[in-house]
Amino acid sequence: MTPYYNYDISLLRRTLDACLNEAYRYGYQVHYALKANVEPVILHEISSRGFGADCVSGWEVQAAVENGFAPAKVVFAGVGKSDDEINYALEQDIFAFNCESLQELEVINELARLKDKVATIALRINPDVNPDTHRYIATGQKESKFGISYTEVNEALDKLQALSNLRVAGIHFHIGSQILDMSSFAELAHRAGEISDWFFERGVAIEHLNMGGGLGVDYLEPEKNPIPDFAAYFKVFDDNLRLRPSQKVHFELGRSLVAQCCELRTKVLITKRTGGGANFIIVDAGMTELIRPALYQAHHKIVNLSAEGECRPAERYYIGGPICESSDIFARDIEFPHTERGDILAIKSVGAYGSTMASNYNMRPLAKAVF
Ligand code: LLP
Repeated sequence: MTPYYNYDISLLRRTLDACLNEAYRYGYQVHYALKANVEPVILHEISSRGFGADCVSGWEVQAAVENGFAPAKVVFAGVGKSDDEINYALEQDIFAFNCESLQELEVINELARLKDKVATIALRINPDVNPDTHRYIATGQKESKFGISYTEVNEALDKLQALSNLRVAGIHFHIGSQILDMSSFAELAHRAGEISDWFFERGVAIEHLNMGGGLGVDYLEPEKNPIPDFAAYFKVFDDNLRLRPSQKVHFELGRSLVAQCCELRTKVLITKRTGGGANFIIVDAGMTELIRPALYQAHHKIVNLSAEGECRPAERYYIGGPICESSDIFARDIEFPHTERGDILAIKSVGAYGSTMASNYNMRPLAKAVF
């Protein structure tokens, strides 16, 4: 049966309610970023509460629509959208395409023209804000491949004059993920207000400002902080984002909504000592079920469920998976209770970017979910 993703739906519900309570205080609309987790059970929990969806592929748009998200609340981002994906989203009459290049504006305009439609778009602008997070998941600095640089915005506006099958309704930003320092969001909010003014001065009334996602979670002490600080997060925007009358604010949260509601349960296959003296626990889950430690040196707390309630001595261990890659390691030289073959471990906080980044490398089947 192991490895499997074990979900706590009660915690998911409390997290979603906490987010909505804080967002509604300011009239903010939150779109759930499907890239974090696409389990249908999870999608239904989220869509049934009125969240919108943030999608980065046509398949995600389809999953959103099929799992109860209103198309009128779906945004579709992505630096490379294929014609088929764009056509599908046009047919669904989604809320907005978040456009990431000047060429994309022409492509969507042409596909919309062929369908005799007007596509609503938001321009994703790279705000050049550099958050304190891993360089692989920071997206808003000027070297990033995402978005339109603000030096290109003039050109985008000129181009849009001629594109009559597009309607510019919003501006979109996303500075990165797993951000816990609220000052990065304050800087983003300031920058977004300035950019919105800039559009107004050129006669383009921006109806919505989409601030993206990025709120981080506590991977070190998930039991202590199971629910992220949504109050502080939304307050930073309320404090720092100067809005014009009738402007709406949207967010695209992924990790903060789903990371903590799932743990990866895995069985110990082998314990061994390497030639170098490292004490290894080899489990039956690997980078195929959770790639974050291998890809971003991410930390996930691990507990030995079989040792709970027992008085086992602490030892030092490396914990790794069975995959034929040296990077298939979940923890290095940590203090951990004495562990034996057959013990069940739980790797915490895997609800976001766990199963959605899984692969079947080494011909392994995808792990099941238990709710
Ligand atoms: N909006 C856009 C445009 C994004 O690119 C992302 C995430 C989000 C929203 C949602 O961000 P969140 O609220 O989840 O931080 N696989 C990496 C994270 C990649 C995030 C990609 N974009 C990880 O496991 O840490």
